[in-house]
Amino acid sequence: MNGETKPGQVREITSPANPAIKEIRALALKKNRDAGKRFLAEGLKLVTDALEGGWPVHALIYGKRMAGEAHVQAIAAKARARGADIFEVNDKVLAAIARRDNPQMVLGVFGQRWMPLASIRPEGNEVWVALDRVRDPGNLGTILRTADCVGAKGVILVGETTDPYSIEAVRATMGSIFNVQLARATVPAFLAWRKESRGLLVGTHLEGAVDYREPDYSGQPVLLLMGNEQQGLPAELAASCDRLCLIPMDGKADSLNLAVATGVMLFEIRRSVLKLSTDLRR
Ligand SMILES: C[S@@+](CC[C@H](N)C(=O)[O-])C[C@H]1O[C@@H](n2cnc3c(N)ncnc32)[C@H](O)[C@@H]1O
Repeated sequence: MNGETKPGQVREITSPANPAIKEIRALALKKNRDAGKRFLAEGLKLVTDALEGGWPVHALIYGKRMAGEAHVQAIAAKARARGADIFEVNDKVLAAIARRDNPQMVLGVFGQRWMPLASIRPEGNEVWVALDRVRDPGNLGTILRTADCVGAKGVILVGETTDPYSIEAVRATMGSIFNVQLARATVPAFLAWRKESRGLLVGTHLEGAVDYREPDYSGQPVLLLMGNEQQGLPAELAASCDRLCLIPMDGKADSLNLAVATGVMLFEIRRSVLKLSTDLRR
């Protein structure tokens, strides 16, 4: 992190204007997250999950009020052993980093992880989700959390999407950001990769011809493709799907929310696969 700090040291900081804290606060901007390939995770659970998952850790920040807590010291020791800077800070600094009142008492700066698309080779009963130009960080975080809940392997972000490593998206994942693999691709790269990959590509569309409960999703990898919140799937992506499914709706709403539709699809796929597999949790 900051030049004044040697990795592993514990530093007490009382001002949000401290250069090391300013550097952490700068992670609120995507360009800074991209430049350093870093992001901020808030809360003891997320920080613990990240450390247990072996994620690269650059800094651990905790509230001075919690300094005497054994679990905070344990986590700080773990992060310190991995070379992270350790910052003991007051409430004002915590609120400035989290950009809200009542911030979490423990925060961590971690390294981003991206899988190269070419290294993804779906096999067996694996489920992958692909999202076309997802815009809303809350939707993306919720989808990552839902993908984790059904044991999906990962999420591929297609085209210009919101950043899964933004603070809002990470918050919405409730820790699942550390359990689900992430990749990104342009539309042409995604379509080229798809041609080389095994499995069923299932798109969802308001004009889908197939009821989402009809296909047998078992016995092969499934790649679920979801459309953009405003525009739905573009023709080029829709045309690449083996099946284009509709979730039938009553009522007057035009469509389901993207994250809700993804959840409905993922649980139906899981239900279909469970008929044959006992590997998954019931
Ligand atoms: C909010 S909807 C998009 C609505 C958009 N106005 C459209 O015309 O497609 C976002 C995505 O959720 C999925 N979706 C929402 N409701 C659906 C439904 N009833 N059946 C199938 N997919 C649905 C589709 O992938 C859709 O692209």
